[in-house]
Amino acid sequence: VALVLDFGSQYTHLITRRIRQLGVCSFCLSAAEASLDAVAKLAPSLILLSGGPHSVYEPGAPSVPPGFFDYVRDRGVPVVGICYGLQLIVAQMGGSVEPAANREYGSMDVVPVAGSVLYGDDDSTQSVWMSHGDEVVEMPRGFVVVARSVQGSIAAIENPDLGIYALQYHPEVSHSPKGIDTLKRLLFEVGGLTDDWKVQDVLQEQIDLIATTVGPDDHAICALSGGVDSTVAATIVHKVMGDRLHCVFVDNGLLRYKERERVMETFKRDLHLPVVCVDAGSQFLAKLEGVVDPERKRKIIGAEFIAVFDEFSRKLEQELGKKPKYLVQGTLYPDVIESCPPPGVVGHSHTIKSHHNVGGLPPSMKLLLLEPLKWLFKDEVRKLGKLLGIPEGFLKRHPFPGPGLAVRVIGGDVTEENLETLRLVDEVFTASIKEAGLYDEMWQAFAGILPVKTVGVQGDKRTHSGSVVLRAVTSEDGMTAERYTFKREFLDQVTREICNTVVDVNRVFYDLTSKPPATIEWE
Ligand code: XMP
Repeated sequence: VALVLDFGSQYTHLITRRIRQLGVCSFCLSAAEASLDAVAKLAPSLILLSGGPHSVYEPGAPSVPPGFFDYVRDRGVPVVGICYGLQLIVAQMGGSVEPAANREYGSMDVVPVAGSVLYGDDDSTQSVWMSHGDEVVEMPRGFVVVARSVQGSIAAIENPDLGIYALQYHPEVSHSPKGIDTLKRLLFEVGGLTDDWKVQDVLQEQIDLIATTVGPDDHAICALSGGVDSTVAATIVHKVMGDRLHCVFVDNGLLRYKERERVMETFKRDLHLPVVCVDAGSQFLAKLEGVVDPERKRKIIGAEFIAVFDEFSRKLEQELGKKPKYLVQGTLYPDVIESCPPPGVVGHSHTIKSHHNVGGLPPSMKLLLLEPLKWLFKDEVRKLGKLLGIPEGFLKRHPFPGPGLAVRVIGGDVTEENLETLRLVDEVFTASIKEAGLYDEMWQAFAGILPVKTVGVQGDKRTHSGSVVLRAVTSEDGMTAERYTFKREFLDQVTREICNTVVDVNRVFYDLTSKPPATIEWE
């Protein structure tokens, strides 16, 4: 195992994911919460200290658990610091760190020293991603500088005798193209790890775990959202529990064009999941009448969902003559890293999260959780889905917010007319993207309705019709995003088709903004 101690960097999950992509089992522990005991229970062969937003000289700056450096020295476990991790090592080993005169953010060239452990014989200049405001002003004894930025600042240091290595830049991000080579050297040569971890191992482990946890007469329930996570989680549990798993798909009336028919077909025909579809559209729309504020929309939709789910499980209880014991959730690793130690590590157990689907279930439901994906990242879940026979087109679907189209009726009332317009515009846009073979190039593409009516001329007649906005973005993880740049002809053709086919739309806008400063959704 390669253990990542998290000091709060936005890239920590990425380090863990990169290591797994290289075939090595990796987990992450919060440095603020991890005890030395928790570290020891994982018996890591390599420990990485992540970046983070703090400065090591601040009072109360986060550090490694007490006794950490004695532990790694006694057991010969190599340690790798990244960014804040480097500065922490320097400060702990007797060097010093101060605010930098020249802060380094963004792409930068660094020059390695040949013959070092970190770079081997490769002393060619490489482009790396820097993001730091502090710098090393005094090196700790026994350490040598093995790379400098072209500006002369320290980019990497090592002390092979102590087994401690550190990088000021981020080798895990794609803007550091040779970073992956450095990670490989660290994992395989320094840490002696092997590349035999596969996502299939998690599948088998989870199937075995569920088989030994649930009793032969226990039942489980699961809310399917139509998204990848809940579908993969239910499919895994279904392998063990068969028809003792009871799934519900709630049509809240806020779904995309033909969404219900499309996902129900996948659930039933491709995956043979036992799933009931509850048609609750009019119930949701009645509650949303006259509501414009997006946060209120979200709250109302969340509460209504729980009411429908509660009703479903009460009916089920009557049919079965007993309460279902388990709740299946598609929780992923990024949701639990902070609150849930990896397998084998004793710690606090985590409770039902306020997930957009089933957050805030009434305490009377008292369900135990089955979360077969909680050690996995999204890309790994997609791989598992493929192994489980979930159609590729389904696994690659763009994300869709829990509150559905309601949040894309901007500044307006969620009426059936607005929703119908939105569905049609969204379908023209998405179908054109698929036809052009561009769908898999983007993170998300969708339409929103703007609260603006303007004068137009359509078919020789003056109109006073609505406006829609189209949004398409690329992104790695939804945290930041860039707008997708279509060819002009593509946008022209989509705009024409929307105005020609969707009554009540005479203007189409395209959103050019990235995230930040905008968000991906419009609400
Ligand atoms: P923003 O708009 O915050 O969205 O940039 C980032 C990503 O999250 C999706 N999103 C949601 N997903 N439930 C979800 O499952 C929600 O309530 C929700 N709100 C936003 C959004 O579509 C984008 O991909």
